Amino acid sequence: MSSGPEIDAGRLWQRHLAMADIGATPAGGVHRLALTDEDIEAHRLLADWAGPRGFSIELDAIGNMFIRREGSDSSLPPVASGSHTDTQPMGGRFDGISGVLAAFEALEAIDEAGIETPHPIEVIAWNNEEGSRFIPACMGSAVYAGAEPLDAMRAREDGDGVTMGSCVDALKAALPDTGHRDLGAPLAAFIEAHIEQGPELEANGNIIGAVTGMQGYRRFTVAVTGEASHSGTTPRARRRDAFFAAMDMTQALRAAMLDEEDILRFTIGRFAIPGGGISVVPGRAEFTIDMRHPDAATLRERGDRIPQICRENAGACEVEVDEFINQDPLDFPQAMISAIETAAGRRGYPHQRIYSAAGHDARHAAALCPAGMIFIPCWRGLSHNEAERAEPEHVAAAAQVIADMLIDLAQER
Ligand code: GLV
Ligand code: MN
Ligand code: MN
Repeated sequence: MSSGPEIDAGRLWQRHLAMADIGATPAGGVHRLALTDEDIEAHRLLADWAGPRGFSIELDAIGNMFIRREGSDSSLPPVASGSHTDTQPMGGRFDGISGVLAAFEALEAIDEAGIETPHPIEVIAWNNEEGSRFIPACMGSAVYAGAEPLDAMRAREDGDGVTMGSCVDALKAALPDTGHRDLGAPLAAFIEAHIEQGPELEANGNIIGAVTGMQGYRRFTVAVTGEASHSGTTPRARRRDAFFAAMDMTQALRAAMLDEEDILRFTIGRFAIPGGGISVVPGRAEFTIDMRHPDAATLRERGDRIPQICRENAGACEVEVDEFINQDPLDFPQAMISAIETAAGRRGYPHQRIYSAAGHDARHAAALCPAGMIFIPCWRGLSHNEAERAEPEHVAAAAQVIADMLIDLAQER
């Protein structure tokens, strides 16, 4: 191989470094929450790169960004690739952005090779994938695919009361020369490149994973209400300590979610005593639950127990359990999995099939069109961590596979 598009690995790595500067943390990670000034800056940088190539840009009502190279048949929907630009609060340099940059490098390589395609080809930066600033995660792709309602999502507030809608307006103001994209406008196909965020590819010495599917997940917020009182004067019998009640709940939940096979994932990622003081018996405690499993029945059965377990351990306090995400496991189409294997094989990249334990925007794209994902290794399988790392030759391999696949998909009528 090949007479196809040849990606420029050096240019791609420089772009990774430039993006890693936006929201860089002292420990080498990235803090770039959805549609903060930093995230808008990342979108602007993409637009700066797209302009000289003559690619057009569209934004939709929930802040997804579409960078487009026209096709020769304007009646055909675009084939697309991309991921997200936002990060976890103390996230890494690759989660999300490497999929956007792989897609952008692919588009540029296709353009440089002067290859005409009947379908337009697009890079998509889905808005608010991490869900760290605005709940829920994968908001942009979910709204685009019709899985979440636009108005309710635009009304969502961050911790400071800023709405998603006002942030989308700020993004539009920062990128005035962009067109409008209708939500749900058809896509012909979507492929997302992403770091694996787990250890399997690295352990096996493979550099491309053809993702077969994605495990399901459920997320809850739990709010425990007791009564704030003086820590010196309130005897145990009169206390309504929300922290200790929450501790009892988390311990009971942990025991109930234990599986011998170590497949179920159960995480309490946030725990807070709002307004707490050293000498105040906590009147309120709040925590989040993220649970995941590849089997829909297990996810349903174990997850359904959560509210009851919380109530049984509330003691003298009250508890409210709110489920805000419930997504079934998902299988990607066989044709897409095989196409990834073929593309990786043609380039001589060692590859394997792999299951995604993490959640991704490709889940929602899959409701609109044939969708797939490719994974590349990340160091020690570490992700959602400032030390997250991927090798330059692996991000280049991802971009090359994406470029080859986009060409194949964009020629199909
Ligand atoms: C995505 O970041 C996930 O939490 O799976
Ligand atoms: Mn991601
Ligand atoms: Mn992530």
